[in-house]
Amino acid sequence: MRVFVLGGTGRIGSAVVRELVGRGHELFGLARSDASALKLGQFGATPIAGDIGLPEAWIAKLPQADAVVHMACDFSTDMGAVDRRLLDRLVPALAAQPQRARFITTGGCWLFGAGGNEVVTEGTPFRPLPAFAWMVPQLERVLTSQQVDGIAIHPAMVYAGAGGVFDRFSRAAIAGRPVPVVGSEAVRWPLVHAADLALLYALALERAQPGESYIGAAVEGLPVGRIARAFARRFNAKHETPEIISVDAIAAELGEWARGYAFDQQLSGDKARRELGWAPRHLDPEAEIARLP
Ligand SMILES: NC(=O)c1ccc[n+]([C@@H]2O[C@H](COP(=O)([O-])OP(=O)(O)OC[C@H]3O[C@@H](n4cnc5c(N)ncnc54)[C@H](OP(=O)(O)O)[C@@H]3O)[C@@H](O)[C@H]2O)c1
Repeated sequence: MRVFVLGGTGRIGSAVVRELVGRGHELFGLARSDASALKLGQFGATPIAGDIGLPEAWIAKLPQADAVVHMACDFSTDMGAVDRRLLDRLVPALAAQPQRARFITTGGCWLFGAGGNEVVTEGTPFRPLPAFAWMVPQLERVLTSQQVDGIAIHPAMVYAGAGGVFDRFSRAAIAGRPVPVVGSEAVRWPLVHAADLALLYALALERAQPGESYIGAAVEGLPVGRIARAFARRFNAKHETPEIISVDAIAAELGEWARGYAFDQQLSGDKARRELGWAPRHLDPEAEIARLP
C-alpha cells in the first residue's frame, strides 16, 4: 500500500514507519524540519515538507495514498485546535483522491481515565484526561467518517529499551539519583513495547474493519514502583526506594497532559489478539530492564 504518515519520526511513529517499510509498503511522511526529513529518509520513507499546524501549506503535495497513519501531536496547549484544522483539510483531500483511503488514527490509554481494578476494553466509556479530551470527538469523527475508512489504535504506555516512558526512570538510575515516580508506587501502567505496537498498527492497516478500535496493551498493568525499582537495581543506584513526585509537580514541569502519569490503569489488548492475530513478544518489562546493556 501507499501510506502517508503523520508523526513518523516520533516514539510510536519511528517504529511504525520501519515496520511498514519492512513489510513492503511504500511510505511517505510529513516532516516539519530537515532533521525529521533526514530521519524519515533513513527509515526508507519519502519525506514531504510540512507542519501539522499549517496544512494549507502542504495539502496540495499530498501523495496519492491508500492509507494515512496519524501519530502526530505537538503536546502544546493548542493541540486540539491544531488537530481539528488538520483533519478539516486532510480528510476532504483524501476523499478527492480516486481510491478510498483507510485512516488509522491514534488515541491513547489516558482517554479511559484512572480505572483502578477495572480492566479497560474498547467498550469502556471514555473518561479522558482533560488535556486530551479534544481527542474523543476527533476519534469519533474519523471512525464514523463517510469520506475515509477510519480505524483507531489506543496505545498503552510505550517503551523501548530504556527509552519512551522509561526514559525518566533510566536517566535517574544511571545518574545515581532516586528514580522518580508520579503519585504512588502502586499506580499501574499498561505497557507496550514500540516494536509490538508497530506490529499492531501494521495489522490494523492490513486487516481491520472500518470503524473498529483496538487497544495496544501487551501488559495489562504493572505497578510503576516495580519498574522504578527494576531500574534502580539494574544500574546499581544507591537508593532502590523511588522518589514520589506529586501530580501537580509533573504538570508544572511538563504540562497539564502529564497528569496522566498518575493514572492507575489496567488495559486489555485481547481484542487485537483475537481479531487481528496480534502476538506481542515483549511481555515481561522487568526482565527486559534487568538485561539492559
Ligand atoms: N508514547 C506513548 O506512550 C503514548 C501512549 C498513548 C498514546 N500516545 C499518543 O500517540 C501520539 C504520538 O505519541 P509519541 O509518544 O510518538 O509522540 P512524540 O514522540 O512526541 O512524536 C510526535 C510526532 O509528531 C510530530 N510532530 C509534532 N508536532 C508536529 C508539527 N507541528 N508538524 C509536524 N509534525 C509534528 C513529531 O515530529 P518531529 O520529529 O519533527 O518532532 C513526531 O514525529 C500522541 O497523540 C500521543 O498522545 C502516546
